[in-house]
Amino acid sequence: MCGIVGYIGNDNGIEVVFNGLVRLEYRGYDSVGIGFKENGKIKTIKSVGRIQKSDVAPGMPNLEEKLKEDGKFKFSSHIVIGHTRWATHGAPNERNAHPHVSMSGRFAIVHNGIIENYYTLKKELESKGYKFASETDSEVIAHLIDYFYDSDFLEAVKKTLTKLNGAYSFLVISQKDDVLIGTKKGSPLCVGIGDNEIIISSDEMPFVDRTKKVIYLSDNELVVAQFNGKYDVKSFEGINIEKEIKEVPYDIEAITKGGYKHFMLKEIHEQSMTVKNTFISRVDHIDTMLRDNFPNLPRNINRVIYLGCGTSLYAGMVGMYITERYAHVPSRAEYASEFIYRDPVIFRNDVCIAVSQSGETADTKEALRIVKGKGAYISGIVNTVGSQIARLAGRGMYLHAGPEIGVASTKAFTSQIIAINLFNMLLIDNNSYKQEMINEMKKLPMKIGEVFDTEDYIKDITPEIAKYKSFLYLGRDINYPVALEGALKMKEIAYIHAEGYSSGEMKHGPIALVDENMLSVFIITGEKKIYQKTLNNLIEIKARKGNVLVITDNVGEVKKYLDNDDYVVRVPCTIPQLSPIINIIPLQLLAYYVADYLGREIDKPRNLAKSVTVE
Ligand code: G6P
Repeated sequence: MCGIVGYIGNDNGIEVVFNGLVRLEYRGYDSVGIGFKENGKIKTIKSVGRIQKSDVAPGMPNLEEKLKEDGKFKFSSHIVIGHTRWATHGAPNERNAHPHVSMSGRFAIVHNGIIENYYTLKKELESKGYKFASETDSEVIAHLIDYFYDSDFLEAVKKTLTKLNGAYSFLVISQKDDVLIGTKKGSPLCVGIGDNEIIISSDEMPFVDRTKKVIYLSDNELVVAQFNGKYDVKSFEGINIEKEIKEVPYDIEAITKGGYKHFMLKEIHEQSMTVKNTFISRVDHIDTMLRDNFPNLPRNINRVIYLGCGTSLYAGMVGMYITERYAHVPSRAEYASEFIYRDPVIFRNDVCIAVSQSGETADTKEALRIVKGKGAYISGIVNTVGSQIARLAGRGMYLHAGPEIGVASTKAFTSQIIAINLFNMLLIDNNSYKQEMINEMKKLPMKIGEVFDTEDYIKDITPEIAKYKSFLYLGRDINYPVALEGALKMKEIAYIHAEGYSSGEMKHGPIALVDENMLSVFIITGEKKIYQKTLNNLIEIKARKGNVLVITDNVGEVKKYLDNDDYVVRVPCTIPQLSPIINIIPLQLLAYYVADYLGREIDKPRNLAKSVTVE
């Protein structure tokens, strides 16, 4: 999703903003641009495609090529804004790339979000003589500021804000005024406070190497940043607001590849550590955690509803199985994007948990807002500290998994399952259950280490696996969401059609697809009953001469039914509630190596965004 970054200070802001844009790449984008003041005029430089790679058309320079000469920045400016755009209104081209400059040339803006009433505003502005240079909704902001400008820049911005509907954060610079203004309503924005400089951006990534001091703006707030690191935070009405300065909770090392070819591979390998980070400070005082993380949890819980999108929803589905089976509380997991449109029936004693890596996913946030409005108990299981969902939820658990940069989520999923298990321990009044869970959690980092013993095998079989035209991922019970997540990874980064299915449903349709072009990927672990039933499904596929790849903790049993064209990955045994953590890792590796073999852009797959901040 779009990323914005702005700089005001003594250094060359072009360089700071350029580096910031590179760090925001993980959000996904299709075009990019920078705006700054040069010789009393606002200049913009834009390009389509990747910031540092010429991947659009031969001879079409990227942003880096446009900004640099002999490896050095050829422009210099102390007030700069930049943007990575993920197209919503208008095609990804230079005309629609940000910054957008007002017709007069006096103001330039970069915007993240959607201006819902832009069409009406555009018509009004056109009737006043404004000409639009792009097809974007964002451009109305620049013209409105220009329209309202009467020698007071801030007043013009404030008047503009009264006109805008939708979710947005934007930055604006003025040809005449030496300030950088940022504002937000519904989309994220934070302010890095450095030595004699201010950097305002969608998240902390662009400035974490320069300062760790941060202010998280709330909705309906704006910041006016000046030289010498001075800033004022105000309400949209102009009333001054005191904001707490916080510390960014991670270092620059956390957002570099650390020797791995891709962030995704690094993040897959980090999981021994990241799952530990999620449970370690909590397992030894579960009861205190109840008070700290989930204060005022209702005594008689009616239902536990997990809300999320993509990978986070699948972690929520794992939660649904755990809550019903072990806590004996009715539970469901819902796609936030469906939930928000069906006027759901929600009761006061429903406990709703938003599950989100970024904490910025628009549908998940809206779902949480709806259940809050209906009086349910709300909370969040979120990775990004200070994110919008975390703040809206007001309680719950952070994953402490560190920044996840690869667009395809990996370590967030496994930490989410830990967090969901911890939450469920609060519902289960059984000390031996809790003790067994704690013991198994403590063994997990070592067991995850063992899973990586299979990495070479997975790498070796990759050329054969990459030949398949489609994949059917099959799992039963708690392994069903694992099948969904495994298939999602293959789709996301290898661009091969893959479908996750409940293995019991296989004979109601998908079995018709079995042929030499499709590989069935089975996840067969856990309790005897479930193991046996899933194995029966495998036998059915084998009877139809289908090829299979099996993830299992009991190789001996499975092997009886396999032939030479089949593949087996042995994973360590754990309790069913934690098994999705172990079982997903070979599937993450499989998708990774197939994608790498096929030369895909693994960390930034086509058409995908890390953080989807529009509904
Ligand atoms: C996007 C990402 C997915 C992610 C989903 C939910 O689609 O590409 O990887 O699972 O959003 O994101 P969240 O940040 O809420 O977990």
